[in-house]
Amino acid sequence: MKIIGSVKEDLAAEKRISVTPDVVKKYKDLDFSIYLEKNYGNHLGIRDEEYKDNGASLVNSSKEVLEKSEIVLRVNCLSNDQANLIKNQSILIGQFDDFSNKEIINKLIKKDIKIFSLNSLPRITRAQSMDVLSSQANLAGYRAVIESVEAFEKAVPMMMTAAGTITPAKVLVIGAGVAGLQAIATAKRLGGIVSATDVRIIAKEQVESLGGKFLSVEGAENLETKEGYAKEADESFKKKQTDLLKNAVKKNDIIICTALIPGKKAPRIISEDMVKSMKPGSIIYDLAVGQGGNSAFSEADKVNLVNGVKVMGVKNILNNLPLTASNLYAKNLFNFVYNLYDKKKKSIFLNEEDEIVSKTLITKEL
Ligand code: NAI
Repeated sequence: MKIIGSVKEDLAAEKRISVTPDVVKKYKDLDFSIYLEKNYGNHLGIRDEEYKDNGASLVNSSKEVLEKSEIVLRVNCLSNDQANLIKNQSILIGQFDDFSNKEIINKLIKKDIKIFSLNSLPRITRAQSMDVLSSQANLAGYRAVIESVEAFEKAVPMMMTAAGTITPAKVLVIGAGVAGLQAIATAKRLGGIVSATDVRIIAKEQVESLGGKFLSVEGAENLETKEGYAKEADESFKKKQTDLLKNAVKKNDIIICTALIPGKKAPRIISEDMVKSMKPGSIIYDLAVGQGGNSAFSEADKVNLVNGVKVMGVKNILNNLPLTASNLYAKNLFNFVYNLYDKKKKSIFLNEEDEIVSKTLITKEL
């Protein structure tokens, strides 16, 4: 298997790409041929010539790419038409969702396509360089702070001026995973006073090392699974957390919500009353909106104004920094392909004993 291809995503929903000119060189070094649909990176200001200079072939239609490629690289799932065109027994790698992509995945399995979903990568050291959830969530956390600050109609850092002192803005981050930790770091860099909360005790040390204050739910057990993810909180925990946050939300100007339990609806942490208790002009930015949201009044791709509080949610925040996101995503994909590449035989070999392969490969119809 030596032919890799990628076609344009649905640009109305996704601006990221899977192959950048930089990674074309890396694939060429391993002797892969790269086929891309013409104008592949045009919307990001990347000209076809840049790809060609690095050794890729640009072809006229997505049909041609899909009919040629043995390995297809994607951000999101293929469309129905594309699924009809992809070659039987080829490999498809991207971020697929069991729920919304079910029909297409089943269709592809019938065509004996080996589908790898990087959403299911094990979070082990060896897989870190391929971890799309981390590389993208890190950027999401950064961007959520930038967008919140833009919507916030006051300055963030403390400033002592002849006209008086400006008090720094207070930022609360809910959920200190990958997105949350980057949100903390970004808000600190901008001069905010930052606090954060999480259900995993280990997050306390990480929050503090970034200069944030950790708000602990007193007397609560550590809600962490063996794999390092959060467990769902019980009613007693939820009550204690509500008591803790009821006071905190009133004092904060910007709240960034990132709490998530893998495979579950996002926990509802900020109630309607809590939103209404905040100062007018405050911001809630809910990154978990795609999973139902951590905050009342949050809706995807909307800014809801509640008693002067802006409740914001964006479904795909990575579309607001698609170049950086694509650079990291394309490298994650390359590292994944490199792991499938047998260096001695100089070809792709699917070693199902490798946890990275077995956990990401979708083998059965959903
Ligand atoms: P993660 O799993 O690394 O972090 C989630 C954190 O929330 C964990 O630290 C977990 O312990 C914590 N948590 C869970 N339940 C909690 C509770 N009841 N109270 C406090 N903390 C709790 O996830 P990651 O990768 O940081 O993603 C965060 C969120 O951002 C997710 O909802 C993800 O889907 C979303 N996201 C959204 C994007 C967008 O475009 N809107 C882009 C990328 C990520």
